[in-house]
Amino acid sequence: MTRVCKRFDKVSFENYICSSKEQERLVAALQDGIKNGFKQNIVITGGVGTGKTHLAYAVLNALCTRWKASSGAEYYSSTQAVYAPIKSIIDEIKASWRTNERVDLSIYTGAPLLIIDEVGVQYGSDSERTELFEVFDKRYNDELPTIAISNNNTEALKSILGQRIYDRLTGGALIFELDGSSYRQGEKDEKHQRN
Ligand SMILES: Nc1ncnc2c1ncn2[C@@H]1O[C@H](COP(=O)(O)OP(=O)(O)O)[C@@H](O)[C@H]1O
Ligand SMILES: [Mg+2]
Repeated sequence: MTRVCKRFDKVSFENYICSSKEQERLVAALQDGIKNGFKQNIVITGGVGTGKTHLAYAVLNALCTRWKASSGAEYYSSTQAVYAPIKSIIDEIKASWRTNERVDLSIYTGAPLLIIDEVGVQYGSDSERTELFEVFDKRYNDELPTIAISNNNTEALKSILGQRIYDRLTGGALIFELDGSSYRQGEKDEKHQRN
């Protein structure tokens, strides 16, 4: 279940500013996926602050309805898309080892669309990689689309993920490499200029 993140609560394609052809191409591909269904994996790479997570939430906000738990916390319904930073999946895997239970990754393996963020944060062991492989392999075999987001370029991703995961993720995928400076930094600079 993906929790609505306050920072990205209201992000959309309307408030995403394209300042390169690559960004325009990416936005067009994401909007096409929302309208007509995602037919291929999408890999988005680029430095920090280039708006990758913004676009991930723009997809969530477009596809998912929301519900409010009695605690007041808001969640995206997981029927359309699931978003997770890769580290949270790894943490679930590790937690299951501590309790000696078989980890249930079906929310990730079965999501009609999985948006997996921060791919490339180093994960420690081969066992973690094996469990992660299951997610990518199952989705690949079931032809379920995945959007993978990373600060690393594709070359680095290959060595971090390993050939087997990399192949399943990128085979036939649309790949976008965003460059440019951090929008966060830009926001700060603008404030400085105004002050
Ligand atoms: N092209 C853009 N148009 C509008 N806002 C942007 C853009 N790129 C980044 N931002 C904003 O800058 C902040 C950082 O973006 P984020 O998506 O977290 O970057 P990344 O995930 O690539 O590190 C967010 O508040 C986001 O809404
Ligand atoms: Mg991000």
